[in-house]
Amino acid sequence: MTLQTELENVSPSKLSVRNVSKIFHSKRQIVRALDGVSLEINEGEFVCLVGPSGCGKSTLLNIIAGLDLADEGAVLADGQPVTGPGRDRMVMFQEHALFPWLDVLDNVMFGLRLKPGLNNRERREVAKYYLRLVDLDKFLHANIHELSGGMKQRVALARALAPNPKVLLMDEPFAALDALTREQLYGDIQRIWEQRKKTIVFVTHNVREAVCLGDRVILFSPHPGRIRKEYQIALPRPRDISSVALAEKSSEILVALKSYLDAGGENARVPGATFATHGGAE
Ligand SMILES: Nc1ncnc2c1ncn2[C@@H]1O[C@H](COP(=O)(O)OP(=O)(O)O)[C@@H](O)[C@H]1O
Ligand SMILES: [Mg+2]
Repeated sequence: MTLQTELENVSPSKLSVRNVSKIFHSKRQIVRALDGVSLEINEGEFVCLVGPSGCGKSTLLNIIAGLDLADEGAVLADGQPVTGPGRDRMVMFQEHALFPWLDVLDNVMFGLRLKPGLNNRERREVAKYYLRLVDLDKFLHANIHELSGGMKQRVALARALAPNPKVLLMDEPFAALDALTREQLYGDIQRIWEQRKKTIVFVTHNVREAVCLGDRVILFSPHPGRIRKEYQIALPRPRDISSVALAEKSSEILVALKSYLDAGGENARVPGATFATHGGAE
């Protein structure tokens, strides 16, 4: 800790995104996916990044994960610059990316293959522990293709949790699921976040989902991808996505989001931009 932070009594952020910009050059155009994005995320915080598709949410998550590099700016994890992926920052995507030739248990054990200090028996026990946590202990030896979409995402969640990362990065992980399954997973992820004391960065285009899960909701607008506003969500947990208080907070955020889209930004409206107050893979 530096003398300055000691004197100001500010604990350092878990993740620090500092003035990050990213430009993609395709054959036909140049896309400013992120433009001067800065964000501090505290240890144990559940932060949701929300905005219509194309506003740079996945790009930012990939940069935090170390799967992509910023053109300008930097991301620090525990004060250290992120230069590549690390076991301290596990990612979960909309597509489960499980190995169909491995059963459920072996898929989760695969995530532990590089974990030092564990023998095979211990890895098996750790994998079983996380499969219990996501209520899949009865399916250890099921084939992946036998599972429902929600169960596959549970396996993916167990696999991401198994190396015990401090930070979990989730990119629209529930977007392809039906509403009831999604609601169950909202409960599960809140319970696991509290039990396992994770820092979670959760990307979604679904405003209501963001309000249901986040301590803080960061609102992005596209072209160029920028942070517009942030909201502290003080609703008690576990939160019910159907509650009136949650709906009210969501519509406040949605009104703000629409105003940024209607105002047009530098490049006017975004063709094909979608976002949602509720529901799923809109
Ligand atoms: N690899 C890439 N090459 C070219 N353009 C890209 C690439 N990845 C993302 N983009 C563009 O960058 C913008 C932001 O994309 P993305 O981060 O995926 O947005 P979001 O996740 O919010 O939907 C979009 O306009 C998208 O088309
Ligand atoms: Mg995305």
